[in-house]
Amino acid sequence: MSNNKVSRRQFLSYTLTGVGGFMAAGMLMPMVRFAVDPILQKKEGGDFVLTEKKVADITDVPVRVDFTYEQVDAWYKSDVTNSAWVYKEGDSIIALSPVCKHLGCTVNWEGDPAHKNQFFCPCHGGRYEKTGKNVPKTPPLGPLDQFEVRENDGFLEIGKAIPNTLV
Ligand code: FES
Repeated sequence: MSNNKVSRRQFLSYTLTGVGGFMAAGMLMPMVRFAVDPILQKKEGGDFVLTEKKVADITDVPVRVDFTYEQVDAWYKSDVTNSAWVYKEGDSIIALSPVCKHLGCTVNWEGDPAHKNQFFCPCHGGRYEKTGKNVPKTPPLGPLDQFEVRENDGFLEIGKAIPNTLV
C-alpha cells in the first residue's frame, strides 16, 4: 500500500490548476488561431472563382454576374452562390459587391426609376453612384465593397471582396 496520500489541500490545488489551465487554453486557442490564420490561408490563385461571363461581353453598363464556390465549414461542405455588379471603365473591369452597407440588403443597378445611373437598395432607399460611392443623405454610411478581378482565357474570374478603391 502506498504512503503517498494526497491531502485535501493538494487535491484542491491540482484540481484548480487543471481547471484553470483548461479555461486558459480555451481563451488562448482562438487568439492563436487568429494570429496564424493568414499563414493557413490558401495561397495566390486559390481565391478566384471562374465565372461564365466573357470579358469581351462586358460593357460600361453594370450587369449582375453570379459565381459559385465551395465553402468548407468545419466538416461541412456547401456551395455558396454570390454575385457582383460588373462593368468596364475604360480598359479596367470593375466588380462591385451587391451587399448594401446599411443593413446588408441587395442593391440593384437602376433599381429606382427615379434615379438613373445609380445603384438602389430597396430596403430603405439607399443609393450609390456607379463607382459604389454612397449618396449622401441616404442610409448607407460607406461605399459598396469591390471584388478583385482577373481574366482567365477570355472569361472573368472574381476574387475576394476588398474595400472600394474607386472612391
Ligand atoms: S439595407 Fe440598404 S438602405 Fe438599408
